[in-house]
Order: sequence, then structure tokens, then C-alpha cells
Amino acid sequence: MSSRHVRRNREHWERESPAYQERNREQLNRFDRLGWGVWDIPEDELDVLGDVAGLDVLEYGCGACQSGIRVAMRGARVVGLDVSATQLRAGLVAMEAAGVRVSVVQADGERIPFRDESFDLVFCDHGAMSFADPRVCVPEVARVLRPGGLFAFAMLTPWAWVASGEGDAVGWEFRMPYFGLHAIDIDDPSWRTTEFQLTYGDWIRLFRANGFVVEDLLELRPRPGAVSTYVGPEELPWALDYPYDHIWKVRKVGADAPPAR
Ligand SMILES: C[S@@+](CC[C@H](N)C(=O)[O-])C[C@H]1O[C@@H](n2cnc3c(N)ncnc32)[C@H](O)[C@@H]1O
Repeated sequence: MSSRHVRRNREHWERESPAYQERNREQLNRFDRLGWGVWDIPEDELDVLGDVAGLDVLEYGCGACQSGIRVAMRGARVVGLDVSATQLRAGLVAMEAAGVRVSVVQADGERIPFRDESFDLVFCDHGAMSFADPRVCVPEVARVLRPGGLFAFAMLTPWAWVASGEGDAVGWEFRMPYFGLHAIDIDDPSWRTTEFQLTYGDWIRLFRANGFVVEDLLELRPRPGAVSTYVGPEELPWALDYPYDHIWKVRKVGADAPPAR
């Protein structure tokens, strides 16, 4: 039996997937480059993933798998996992457009249906790590990663949550407490989800408790004049001053590396 937030989020994505895919089509379905986050900052500038050729990769909360398709184009063996059948069906259209096939599986990211140590890389771009409980996901990802494997994920920042409250545009005042950040219910008629965030200290303790070392926290800053299909131009001045989204880059301790203390 899945939990309330997983059911709520699955229902949201089954309902909203067609509108989401249409609204963000221009940004999502550009297969000529791999970008990250709401500002679509190129992987070739950020170098989050490095050389992925020959790696076993899980896209974790892949949606229509557009990122996974681009990673497959760079030579990786990619599997996309998502809880929503409608999102995965949109992936078939994206694969057709890109001329690349990747395997997909419908599953809850809190119960990854793969054996221990199946992947070299687990990644997502505002995927399962935004919509499933990190206290369950981080141990699950640690389980399916091989020693030395990379876990990289983009999500909103605690800054953005505190400055937006429950789903509004970011503003210049604090609208939500920082201490205690965890599950956040959004009840907008067209956006009814439960999303997750932790404080910076809670993230670091969670990674270390599950055998990860933090390699980087990339705070994504758009260029002046940047446009995004995800946020309106009125939010750009804020995003030039504060990180709207960021990428955690953490590595599972290798067999010969000392465990985190
Ligand atoms: C904002 S979309 C991101 C997908 C893709 N990276 C993109 O940019 O469109 C979030 C995805 O997370 C998926 N998701 C939500 N909860 C999940 C869960 N518990 N397990 C797996 N996927 C989940 C949703 O179905 C949705 O496709």
C-alpha cells in the first residue's frame, strides 16, 4: 500500500501530465543538449555527470524521460522510473521524436524495484527527490548504487520554498518556517501535490548516515534575461539574487574508502 503523498502525487501527475508536457514542450523536448533545472543550464557548463558512456543509469522520477534520453544519447544504458503511467506514455512520444529508446518502469521511488548495486549513476531533474520522502529515498538510492556510484539531483532550494510558501511565486519576504522543513502540501486547483524539502543540515546528515560523501552543491543561477517555461519573468530578478534550484552531487563511499563518521 502506498502512502498518502505517493497516491496524491500519482493522481496529480496522471491528471496534469498532458498540460505539463504541452506547457514545457519547448524546454523539455530539445534533444540537442542536456540541461538542468528550471533555467535549463547546460550540463556542458556544469559538468554534473561527467562521462556517462557505458554506465548503468537510473533516471529517478523521469516523467517523459527527456533527460534520460539525452543521457542515453551520450552512451549510457538508461532505465527511467516513474510513478505515473501517463508521464511514461508521454515518454514513448519523446523517444520517437528523439529516435532513441530507453527502458522504463512504473514504480514508486520509495520502493525501487531493482536489486542492490544495480546502477553506477542515479539522477533526476526535479523528479522523485522532489515528490517522495528523502528519508526513504536516500537509503533506497544508496542500496541500488554500486560503491563509488554517483547520485545527482536537481530540486528547488530551501530558499525558494521559504520565499514562496505553499506553491506561490517566490517573493522578497519569508513566508514559511525553515526549521522543520519536510513534507509540503500544495493545494492549488491545477497543482495538488505533496513535495519535500529538508534543511541544509538535515540533508547533510541524511547523506552521511547512508554512506554518501557530498561532492558538490551546485546553486543554479540563470543568466540575465534567461527565460523558462517553468517560472514567469517576474521571478527572474529573485533568481539572480538567490538560488531558485540547486543540484546535490553526492557519491556512495567506495569499497576501499573509509565510512562517513
Ligand atoms: C516535475 S516531473 C519531472 C520529470 C522530468 N525530469 C521533467 O523535467 O519533466 C516530476 C516527476 O516525478 C514523478 N514522481 C512523483 N512522485 C514519485 C514517486 N514517488 N516515485 C517516482 N516518481 C515520482 C512524477 O510522476 C513526475 O513525472
